[in-house]
Amino acid sequence: MLVEKNVPLQPFNTFGIAAKAHALVRVSSLEELHSLIAQPGWAGQPRFVLGGGSNVVLTGDVKPLVLKVEIMGRRLLQETPKAWIVEAGAGENWHDFVTWTLDQGYPGLENMALIPGTMGASPVQNIGAYGVELQDRFDSLDAVDLETGREFTLNAAQCAFGYRDSVFKHAASDAAGHTGFGLAGRALIVRVRLALPKPWKPVLGYADLEKKRAEAGGADPTARQIYDWVVAVRRAKLPDPKFVGNVGSFFKNPTVSREQCDDIIQRDPKIVHYLMDDGSVKLAAGWLIDACGWKGKSIGNAGVYERQALVLVNRGTGSTNPADCATGGEVMTLAKSIQTSVYERFGIRLEPEPVVV
Ligand code: EPU
Repeated sequence: MLVEKNVPLQPFNTFGIAAKAHALVRVSSLEELHSLIAQPGWAGQPRFVLGGGSNVVLTGDVKPLVLKVEIMGRRLLQETPKAWIVEAGAGENWHDFVTWTLDQGYPGLENMALIPGTMGASPVQNIGAYGVELQDRFDSLDAVDLETGREFTLNAAQCAFGYRDSVFKHAASDAAGHTGFGLAGRALIVRVRLALPKPWKPVLGYADLEKKRAEAGGADPTARQIYDWVVAVRRAKLPDPKFVGNVGSFFKNPTVSREQCDDIIQRDPKIVHYLMDDGSVKLAAGWLIDACGWKGKSIGNAGVYERQALVLVNRGTGSTNPADCATGGEVMTLAKSIQTSVYERFGIRLEPEPVVV
């Protein structure tokens, strides 16, 4: 087992933050993982599981042992009258997998095209876009308990999916010793299986996609068309981490009561809001941040993206001078300043989406 020391993590996080792992091990198979867990000194050793690094803010060098998941492989596991069951190793790139399923003739993931990250990370925050969330296509996953080496399988209910949330985002116990239900830091996801329902039905309704449909003449689209539209919309709105470091939406869209929303509408009639089935109201965090005047602003080398205020960016991506690059500290200072502005103006606390390490 090769333990690499002082490994630069800049290429492994989409924010492009310059931090180092004191020690890093690449895990490319279940066998490797088991031999790692069997090593003396493993028990109780702090560790951090890294997937595509697309949902993490590194605020300094990472002292726990970094497990970089590189378990590959993708296949059609089963075709039933009701679904195609497809499976991928946790290290596979999410978007490449979406493209592969469409190329093979298994539609259903097209609305989630171009989301950065890996298969293994997709259930952690229950990724979603344009009306489809991972939980809508989820079958099951295999994981390994990093304490005991035990392999286990979870279905959707056991993953406790919520909006950008799952059992993998919650600690098993907190600092005060309270026992929680979570698996954060405890489990390493090895494989993910998705069920793509038959017959395929398009998921439209989102304004951006409806606009594309109208432009294309209004006919019912194919899965490939929706894929192309989603890719085009995302490319126009969201920065490509290759050129501008980012982790997608930095905050979750907050939910408020009907009364609270009515109160805000009195003062800000233009507020973007969506009525939810349970009677609550979801607000567009991007709109709230934009309304506070943050679009295009920066603190140090961390900035608010010009075309989508919900996305924080690294202004120094690609620069050869490390002094141009945003630090995790700058990103968090910017995030806190935004939270304060939004709270002072709207009385709403924005909750960050990425994991802060
Ligand atoms: N808006 C503004 N100003 C801004 C940004 C947004 O006024 O600077 C307004 C838009 O005009 C729109 C509304 O806010 O009316 C919502 O914006 P958008 O359609 O871009 O979607 P979002 O709510 O900001 C969410 C997800 C995205 C996902 C899109 C499409 C969250 C936190 N974000 O963004 O997911 O791609 O919907 O489904 O739920 C991610 O999680 O990383 C992510 C990119």
